[in-house]
Amino acid sequence: MIRNIFRIYAAAALCFLQLPALHTFAEETETLDHTGSFLWNSSWQFHEDGSDPAGVELPHDWTITHTPDVSGEAESGFLPGGTGTYEKTFTVSEELKDCEFLLEFEGVYHRASIYVNDQAIAYHPYGYTPFTVDLTDFIRAGEENTVRVLCDTAEASSRWYSGSGIYRNVTMHVKEKLHLDEQRMHAVYDKQTEGPVTTGLSAYLVNHTGEEKDAEVQAVIYDRYGRICAEASQDLTAGEEETLAEIELTVHDPELWDTEHPVLYKAEMSLLYEGEVIDTISTSYGYRNIAFDPDTGFYLNGEPVKLKGVCLHHDLGALGAADNRYIWKQRLEQLKEMGCNAIRITHNPASSTLLDLCAEMGMLVIEESFDTWAYSKNWNLADYAACYNSSVSQDHLVNLRPEWIWAQADIYSMVWAGRNNPAVIMWSIGNEILGNIGLAPEDYPAYADMLCTWVAEADEQRPATIGDNMTDGTSDVQNGMDQAVADHGGTIGLNYALTEEYDALHSSYPDRVFYGSETASELSSRGWYAKHGIDQDHLQVSAWDEEAVEWGCTAQKAWYDVITRDFIAGEFVWTGFDYLGEPEPWNGVEPGSVSGQGPIPKSSYFGIIDTAGIRKDSYWFYQSQWRNDVTVLHILPSWNKGSIPTDMFGKTKVTVYSNAPAVELFLNDRSLGVRHAEKHMTDAGYEYQTYDGEMSLSWDVKWQSGTLEAVAYDDSGNAIPSVSGRNKVTTHGSAASLAFAEKRLRSAADGELITLYVSAYDAEGNQVYGGDQRVFFDVSEGAEIVGMDNGDPCDTDPYQSPETGRKLFSGTVAVIIKVTDPSENIVVSARVEGLESAQAEIAPAEGIHHPVEYQRREGE
Ligand code: GAL
Repeated sequence: MIRNIFRIYAAAALCFLQLPALHTFAEETETLDHTGSFLWNSSWQFHEDGSDPAGVELPHDWTITHTPDVSGEAESGFLPGGTGTYEKTFTVSEELKDCEFLLEFEGVYHRASIYVNDQAIAYHPYGYTPFTVDLTDFIRAGEENTVRVLCDTAEASSRWYSGSGIYRNVTMHVKEKLHLDEQRMHAVYDKQTEGPVTTGLSAYLVNHTGEEKDAEVQAVIYDRYGRICAEASQDLTAGEEETLAEIELTVHDPELWDTEHPVLYKAEMSLLYEGEVIDTISTSYGYRNIAFDPDTGFYLNGEPVKLKGVCLHHDLGALGAADNRYIWKQRLEQLKEMGCNAIRITHNPASSTLLDLCAEMGMLVIEESFDTWAYSKNWNLADYAACYNSSVSQDHLVNLRPEWIWAQADIYSMVWAGRNNPAVIMWSIGNEILGNIGLAPEDYPAYADMLCTWVAEADEQRPATIGDNMTDGTSDVQNGMDQAVADHGGTIGLNYALTEEYDALHSSYPDRVFYGSETASELSSRGWYAKHGIDQDHLQVSAWDEEAVEWGCTAQKAWYDVITRDFIAGEFVWTGFDYLGEPEPWNGVEPGSVSGQGPIPKSSYFGIIDTAGIRKDSYWFYQSQWRNDVTVLHILPSWNKGSIPTDMFGKTKVTVYSNAPAVELFLNDRSLGVRHAEKHMTDAGYEYQTYDGEMSLSWDVKWQSGTLEAVAYDDSGNAIPSVSGRNKVTTHGSAASLAFAEKRLRSAADGELITLYVSAYDAEGNQVYGGDQRVFFDVSEGAEIVGMDNGDPCDTDPYQSPETGRKLFSGTVAVIIKVTDPSENIVVSARVEGLESAQAEIAPAEGIHHPVEYQRREGE
């Protein structure tokens, strides 16, 4: 029997390996000496092009530490790629000589070539789908082995910042030759989710022993308290290669999963051979019912739910593409607090980190496969078009058949990875497939049909969907693609449909389910009040909801069109967070500066929240529309003469976002008038409200030094004391001190990342909104700085360099701390010369024994 011990130790002797680039690696060695699944993120060596190797931890993005350069493209954040090599050396104990070694990569960007002991064994082109490489034939038991991964991002491949490298988790699975395949484990259940619910668990029993084996598969379902709620088993004979084990269990009155109560169950399947458990796989899933109606939209567990969604790219600002559970969690918390209930992952499959969090936190998801099919977009010749139609043609990629084309393989990989996840409600086969390719291929409807077929083969329980940007209905090819999706029972996402287009499409295709897969594309810089509109000198855009790309519209118009039409199932705003790259209105698809001011701007203006995780004013617009359980009251702009625009009469446009029955604005305690809301209800029962026909309030106010304050009233005219948002702004003096948003933070676990926000204040304690001083951060023992960001699209300072510090932008900057010793009381300080510095404390982690970083492998 194989022992249950896994050790990592520094090699007694240095091990010298030759790479093609002639780099010598001194390594740590890991020893594998028992079966199981192991997170394999540590002790990798990395080098880029001609540079020296250095130790790195995965997930890792090697381009985020580069300095933006005009040799790159604006659309990818002026951060060009290159080639990079990762290498890991490990020992396999002699006892494992008859085992199999399956190395799972959740995402490598991109064109990954995998070598084992210097032999090239696999190639995986797409950067966003998970894949597993079977290393077995190349592993030397009892000896040291080396895995090497080459990534190639030298050629332009993306319309946004992609990042480069092994940027998602890696797991090593060591299995017996007779084992269960985890990748395709499937949990399905009756649509009827009350009473006794039949639940089917299935998994493939893989048999590489060369002879038939009699085995038993046991299945257990656990509820959220870890109690067994169903168990069953099946005897079966494992034939050649693989045999499907399908077990039916009954769960009585399961607790349903929804966005408020995201209740998860855990299904486990164990393989017994000669009475001993030799493999166990598991998945979490939830019971919920989804349905779509062409007239009334989306239903979750029988209840109508308007999709209040945002689109999200995969980068995490200062961390680049490197996947991180803590930052994703912070981001989802901010979105949920805004009232967002859904995200569309654009335009590629998400990491399991993000998908798992969506399941745990109750966030609906559209998973999207591709941004293009057979033709490159924006002359990015290394984008997905380069592989869509090529055959997989290799033998060591687990579950991907050599005769498949990559499009089929990547659809399967995406669906297998998310089909047990209750958060996922649709599979998108592509985004704006006719956009930016310069032609309308006649065979694309047949492509759509094929893609939907593959989706349905892998998952019969969710509809396919597509992001259609030819919303005027005049493209026969797009109509054909949409029809193919609809014929498969799928839904149609509309990108930037105009008001009349929604109506025309609904009346022409009354049986189709529509939603706004991309809406708004409103542009704004956080806290930029100096000028209305687009500021060509400073490359910033005003924070009022007034600018959008030419194909988009304001946040308020986009939402109004959606909430007033029950047949539009909801909207997905472009975008929830600013992202690196695509800095419209200064975007460019070829190398070189578009602004004429060097490699800026380098990040987008679309976000409701900036790259640093700091909310823009529009956050409170969405909160005012998407939540009715809090009173929102938020004023813009700030209130300093010279820092805000005035008209010829000296008046400034003051906007208030609210959902209160009435709002009154005061300047220095003098009322500027009360506005009352008019409530509306749609036929399907969705409520919204307007003030004088608008979704926000505004006043033209003659500036006068002092305080502008909004007061919200309930239906009886009583002032509502507790509101969400900035309900007053005061004319401030010059900056005198810094302060963190929170002085004391909750306990932190080992490895946890925490984002802290620091702002400037005047001597009276009023926030200084326009501050741009450079802030330096210090951290005490027990933590380190891993990133700093202020959300300014034009700031090209390095994100990771504490020596450089980072400037305040619109008065605020964020620092990301990694906790390295959770037993310490960690003190973070922020200083600017001449200002009183600020300190925040992170409490020692009492009772936190282990990071929650990788819950999917919980218990291992
Ligand atoms: C859409 C596209 C997105 C993004 C957006 C910007 O057309 O699908 O990826 O480019 O425009 O407005």
